[in-house]
Amino acid sequence: MNEVNKNKNEFCFSSKNKILVENELKKYPKGRETSAIISLLWIAQKQNGGWLSTEIIEYVAFYLNIPKIRSMEIATFYSMFNLSPVGKYHFQMCGTTPCMLCGSDSLKEVLSKKIGAQSSVTDDKLFSWIEVECLGACCNAPVIQINDDYYEDLHSSDLEIILDNLKNNKSIKDGSYKKRISSEPLNKDLKMLTEDEIQEMVKNRKKPGISA
Ligand code: FES
Repeated sequence: MNEVNKNKNEFCFSSKNKILVENELKKYPKGRETSAIISLLWIAQKQNGGWLSTEIIEYVAFYLNIPKIRSMEIATFYSMFNLSPVGKYHFQMCGTTPCMLCGSDSLKEVLSKKIGAQSSVTDDKLFSWIEVECLGACCNAPVIQINDDYYEDLHSSDLEIILDNLKNNKSIKDGSYKKRISSEPLNKDLKMLTEDEIQEMVKNRKKPGISA
């Protein structure tokens, strides 16, 4: 892979992230390492505080020794890649049909009122938000992703509390706001597993993500 950007002011993978990058590349057959591009863009975005500049997108292309347009195509296609600065807490609000039918419009109102227009960043640099397509957790709609975690079964009042807590540097609870452990039915009589069995499955669940 290309070693580029020796200039201190230009973006370069940190030594810690280079280990993650090399680990991702090893997951692909020889000659097919460019398939790791999404992982590399994701690592670069994390290192850059949550967004990708054109220079960084090009850096990833140089790193993989591919034309710039190939990494540009991917970075501009997926909503997981942000092409302008985001807040410390970036909200991705699902507005697709199941979430919309379960009240995402009221969540949108709260985000617009408390944060402002989509893709803008609050003056204190704490918050930004965008509307995205299905986050794949429709069973617990409506859903918002904040940074790496999902917040599910949300009512607008839950979202108001989440925003206030983050603003006051307090911790927030991820997962369901209707006391679901996972995606089991809320109605006890419909459950095929006991609470204990569900708890056991949750305990052994691995959190997704990139690790060395
Ligand atoms: S529709 Fe919102 S998570 Fe699928």
